[in-house]
Amino acid sequence: MSEKFYVTTPIYYVNDRPHIGHSYTTVLADVLARTHRSFGDRTFFLTGTDEHGQKVQNAAEKRGVSPLAHCDETVVRFQELWQRLGITNDYFIRTTQEDHKKIVSKIMQDLYDRGEIYKSEYTGWYCVGCERFFTEKDLVDGKCPECGREVNAITESNYFFRMSKYQDWLIDHIKSHPDFILPAFRANETLGFLKQPLEDLCISRPKSRLAWGIELPFDKDYVCYVWFDALINYISGVGYGSDDEKFNSWWPASCHLIGKDILTTHTVYWPTMLKAIGLPMPQTIFAHGWWLVDNSKMSKSVGNVVNPMDMIDRAGVDAFRYFLMAEMSPGNDANFSEESFIARYNSDLANDLGNLLSRVNKLTIRATGGEIPAPGEVTDEDKELAAAVAAAVADMGSCLEAYKLDQGINAVLNAVRAGNRYLEKCAPWNLAKNGDTARLHSVLHNAADALCRIAVLLAPVMPEKMAELLAVLGADKLNIRGIADLASLKSVTGLVMKETAPLFPRIIVEEAPAAEVKPEKKAKSSKNDAPQAAKPAEKVVNVAVTIDEFFKTQLKTAKVLTAEKVEGADKLLKLSIEVGSETRQLVAGVAQFYSPEAIVGKTIVIVANLKPAKIRGIESQGMLLAAKDGDNLKLVTIDGDMPSGVSIG
Ligand code: ME8
Ligand code: MG
Repeated sequence: MSEKFYVTTPIYYVNDRPHIGHSYTTVLADVLARTHRSFGDRTFFLTGTDEHGQKVQNAAEKRGVSPLAHCDETVVRFQELWQRLGITNDYFIRTTQEDHKKIVSKIMQDLYDRGEIYKSEYTGWYCVGCERFFTEKDLVDGKCPECGREVNAITESNYFFRMSKYQDWLIDHIKSHPDFILPAFRANETLGFLKQPLEDLCISRPKSRLAWGIELPFDKDYVCYVWFDALINYISGVGYGSDDEKFNSWWPASCHLIGKDILTTHTVYWPTMLKAIGLPMPQTIFAHGWWLVDNSKMSKSVGNVVNPMDMIDRAGVDAFRYFLMAEMSPGNDANFSEESFIARYNSDLANDLGNLLSRVNKLTIRATGGEIPAPGEVTDEDKELAAAVAAAVADMGSCLEAYKLDQGINAVLNAVRAGNRYLEKCAPWNLAKNGDTARLHSVLHNAADALCRIAVLLAPVMPEKMAELLAVLGADKLNIRGIADLASLKSVTGLVMKETAPLFPRIIVEEAPAAEVKPEKKAKSSKNDAPQAAKPAEKVVNVAVTIDEFFKTQLKTAKVLTAEKVEGADKLLKLSIEVGSETRQLVAGVAQFYSPEAIVGKTIVIVANLKPAKIRGIESQGMLLAAKDGDNLKLVTIDGDMPSGVSIG
């Protein structure tokens, strides 16, 4: 393991509202930082906000406030979310800070003095959304190749950075440093991009067009291009040009963590800038994949943007952090859905980990009053469990180095499952019954020892919950600083466990509002007296839907034309209904409440876009709405006259 670890996130556009994507990168950086600290590495973690550029200027103008006032207000959204998510960044940089601006200015002057920056006329296509210029051949169907929006042709005098002259050097650097761009397929993407001649980079904007930026020190009619300014945060944030000792102790960065959307700026612009400045290259630029929501791209217009605060409110910070880390293999895209979130929570946390703790806790309290007993002779089962835990420690180390945290977490969960199997095999509840106290004590000790190590391994992902777990074991007394201390962990013997409520209460989802909720069967006290921890206190979640989700359901008025009983089914009526110009057939379970005569002529409410279904072999094209309360059922009807086929909402 390296001794120093300096990790960065992108500095996010201060204008935007942070969503699950920003949370992911920042939590991943936080878990990397915490895990490195846990292994004993000297660590620095930098995040912040990107505050210059067209979008901020436009947004501020629209609100009638100064750009800086606008930034001051919006930056809080990121700072508050990071606090809520338990992010342990060592510094938060804002590109509007005086010290950052001074460094950017100094670098520009130096590059200009050395002929690395020159003035020239330029025609390009500009995308306001991406704040980037593109050449004619970059465009896709005449639109922005990044976001597909309209681009504007602009000709003006500007300053250019001689990026082109570093092309061969960059290709060579990428090829000779296999961990420079990760995952490897992203390095190939950049090398593919570098197959065409690299152009010089336009690094200025005339103030007449954009005033919100860092003024060029050698021409006050221009400001610096926002990306040129933003990338420099990675060095200005650790003291470049202001605190040499600090800077030299952290640079080069160990890892710039980014999303795949900003690969070119980080693997082409930034390395060539550093080369021109005369600084060593970062060790790794790691580009992770994209979070999709219900398998499609998140977008404000679709209304499927996942707000992290909602998830935290629902299941807690640590469960959200765990889901983000366990669900995405860092190179690939991942899908967010409420179902996958709840399924993973329930299986990994409520069941596997929660269960193990609950059983060990209850059994120990029952056997000794809570004191963790001393172990006896070591058996094969004991060795197997210890080996599973040792493997998790080793895997976490290697997965961390390889940026495969999801696999590291999986290795720990394998140890958790090994712990549950160990209990099943050794059946301490039987040992207690049969009076085999020596073996019972051994088993309880070994399971508690495993749990203690597991908690330390998962603490970077779930800091609060794992601190709670350690406290339940009484292991907070051991003052374990991190994974590095596990090799010499003192015995857990003699620690006193506290009784605990479930650490991860199971989440039960109410499915449909009208669905009958079956009462949970009482857990039978099982034959072998094993504590049943699998059904801890339950939390009921009301799934909130967005307005767009709601409007996916088309409710319409419909007139009942005819009705008849369905033979052999005393609850069903077969209706023909008029929905505007259309006639449909619908089967409804209302026969015990409405006779055919009583229902004909009524204007009812139906779900018009329900997938057709066969009920007792009869096709039903939709569903009618009714209120049901035990033995009472009333149709939802329309208050007054209304034609059929009218949308409701
Ligand atoms: O690009 N899935 O800032 P930005 C995963 N200011 N990650 C996502 C994501 C998603 N759906 N959406 C966003 C900028 N991200 C510049 C960076 S750095 C010198 C300047 C994350 O606010 C991911 O890390 O658009 C992505 O790279 C970043 O947010 C973009 O943030
Ligand atoms: Mg973006």
